Amino acid sequence: MLTSGGDCQALNATMRGVAKGLYQLFEEVEIYGFLDGYKGLMYGNYKKMKESDFSGILSRGGTILGTSRQPFKLMRQPTEDGLDKVKAMKETYKKLKLDCLVVLGGNGSQKTANLLREEGLNVIGLPKTIDNDIWGTDHTFGFSSAVDIATRAIDEIHTTAASHHRIFVVEIMGHKVGWITLYAGIAGGADVILIPEIPYDINIVIKSLKKLRKKGKTFSVIAVAEGAISQELASLPKKERKLRLSQSQYPSVSHEIADQIQRAMGAEVRVAVPGHVQRGGAPSASDRILASRVGAKAAELISQESYGRLVVQLGEEVTSIPMEASAGKLKSISPNDNHITQARILGISFGDIR
Ligand code: F6P
Repeated sequence: MLTSGGDCQALNATMRGVAKGLYQLFEEVEIYGFLDGYKGLMYGNYKKMKESDFSGILSRGGTILGTSRQPFKLMRQPTEDGLDKVKAMKETYKKLKLDCLVVLGGNGSQKTANLLREEGLNVIGLPKTIDNDIWGTDHTFGFSSAVDIATRAIDEIHTTAASHHRIFVVEIMGHKVGWITLYAGIAGGADVILIPEIPYDINIVIKSLKKLRKKGKTFSVIAVAEGAISQELASLPKKERKLRLSQSQYPSVSHEIADQIQRAMGAEVRVAVPGHVQRGGAPSASDRILASRVGAKAAELISQESYGRLVVQLGEEVTSIPMEASAGKLKSISPNDNHITQARILGISFGDIR
């Protein structure tokens, strides 16, 4: 087993689920935990796990195995010390005579898992990420916990925003997709939600804020995804867009938006960035349930020798799909998503429609 990429709250809960399931389904089980993600598999850094290692970790955030980011695009390039990464991982797998490798990871990590499957290893993928952007599953574990934290951040900003009659821009995690921002924005009652999938026009954002002020609202909260993008930038070719972003005088898009609003409205605007707090602490009840079920499903697949599968949640069911069906595909929010339709009815602005 290994945990790869950015951590999230329900990694331990999921590993516990896998282990508990395996100890139930098999008389004898040997589990090796690779340390710091694929790095552990490459360098043969692992720990032979005991059943007791999986006790008391259901509610513990982070990962007891450690993690690291090992970009998929660099997998075919040797490490700094000249190690052939894919070859090394296969050798560790063979040396330990593993039956299966269980990968708890996000999009990039699942691409590598699929690569190892193509290289002949038995692999099972478990979709982890606070971003909820893995194609083929309704929800990833980690998402619900991050939404809870981001919602609490918006709630807490509300009281101070109201006291000072300020406008607050709350920057929420998600560079490529806006799932956390959309959910937390609705749950926290944001007036404006800006996500990468719907490029915004700052004039429309300002207009909607002015409208609220006119109606007597003395404060506002805007939920902005890290990867929110203006219509102007979105219309540029990728290379030019990247250059413009790298030349920006602002530390992030939220600061730019705050500055633009402050200049246009003369109102006091502040930025709040909960950052990695969104990935920290204990998993939510909903994540613990999903993680436990995903873990149990992985154990079941292993007992059936059904490999090359990604465990997914579809509606009420936890099931599995072929890894290759999902690998490399991002689950972004459709502008026609039902949540967006209803949010618009509630008067939430996405900065795109006047
Ligand atoms: O992919 C999860 C995530 O938390 C993103 O939402 C965020 O943009 C990114 O990771 C932060 O990465 P790092 O932990 O490397 O700073």
